[in-house]
Amino acid sequence: MASSFIISFALLACALFLMSGTSSAQLTHNFYSKSCPKVFDAVGSVVRAAVAKEKRMGASLLRLHFHDCFVNGCDGSILLDDTSSFTGEKTAGPNNNSVRGFNVIDDVKKKVEKVCPGVVSCADILAISAFESVIALGGPAWTVKLGRRDSKTASLAAANSGVIPPPQSTLSNLINRFQAVGLSARDMVALSGAHTIGQARCTTFRARIYNDTNINAAFAKSRQSNCPRPAGSGDNNLAPLDVRTPNNFDNSYYGNLISQKGLLRSDQQLHNGGSTDSLVELYNRNPESFFRDFAAAMIRMGDIRPLTGSNGEIRKNCRVVNS
Ligand code: HEM
Ligand SMILES: *[C@@H]1O[C@H](CO)[C@@H](O)[C@H](O)[C@H]1NC(C)=O
Ligand SMILES: *[C@@H]1O[C@H](CO)[C@@H](O)[C@H](O)[C@H]1NC(C)=O
Repeated sequence: MASSFIISFALLACALFLMSGTSSAQLTHNFYSKSCPKVFDAVGSVVRAAVAKEKRMGASLLRLHFHDCFVNGCDGSILLDDTSSFTGEKTAGPNNNSVRGFNVIDDVKKKVEKVCPGVVSCADILAISAFESVIALGGPAWTVKLGRRDSKTASLAAANSGVIPPPQSTLSNLINRFQAVGLSARDMVALSGAHTIGQARCTTFRARIYNDTNINAAFAKSRQSNCPRPAGSGDNNLAPLDVRTPNNFDNSYYGNLISQKGLLRSDQQLHNGGSTDSLVELYNRNPESFFRDFAAAMIRMGDIRPLTGSNGEIRKNCRVVNS
């Protein structure tokens, strides 16, 4: 009796300690259920219209959430524009001439501000936009956790530091980069399945299609036709990350890897005789397993070091901090 009292007290004290900690308030799925019950409708309508107009936009919005979360947490920092006195993350190596969708996020924010002014953060708008994009292209649903707040700053140095893995990464580098933000190797393989949609620039896959040996020869040849060998020529020419169904969120990415048709070196690393081969084979055979693991991993990725409680702010305009 006495001991169970002591144990309950200890648990309560522990819970209180966690709740009062610097930034450890939890994200919750019903965060806006009173303050903005229509937030999913508002975001969803704008995202669906944008994806209907251009399928690739779904991929671009999903990637924005990834690049936001991997650099100092999911805090909307990637959305901040450079000014004469401030340099944000948009020109960092992994982002410059590469990330896109900022105008759509502006449209989403405007719509959300009309429905519930001053309530929904840009970091949460990225998380919901990623969700609505995956759904719009035929992918799985998950319970989107909310309650993130927006950063008052951004870090070009962090965005350039390798926390976002480069396309030449080895398997162990990929595993390490994800582990550094609390994600497992299984999460990494499932999240890489995002490359079932969207496009990549020649500069990101040139080395692979001209000198790698773990590539299907006909596939390499066809990619070479629109990606000239000399560095600097055709750098921005695009190719689909998924050679088969680039506008459908399905599991064909994993089948491509098994036939050595991964576009990026980092893609092919997942099925190259190493520890993740069996997972790639599972996701190829069993799309339900891929969808289940992708959904779970998206929740974990969205949980990376959010600002919560009274930290950060709710930006009025996603491109600038409030004055
Ligand atoms: C595992 C490590 C990863 C590497 C090395 C990587 C690398 C890349 C590269 C190089 C591109 C093409 C960029 C360009 O052409 O400028 C790309 C595109 C893309 N990535 Fe990743 N990525 C990784 C993980 C992820 C994750 C976790 C997601 C989301 C959950 C994601 C979603 C996307 C999407 C959707 C695109 C296409 C974007 C568009 O068409 O606008 N990637 N990635
Ligand atoms: C970003 O891309 C632009 C346009 O290609 C280029 O002029 C600029 O130098 C790049 N910035 C950085 C920091 O690489
Ligand atoms: C691969 O190919 C690129 C472009 O042709 C070249 O610049 C590079 O030095 C080659 N070697 C490696 C290991 O990437």
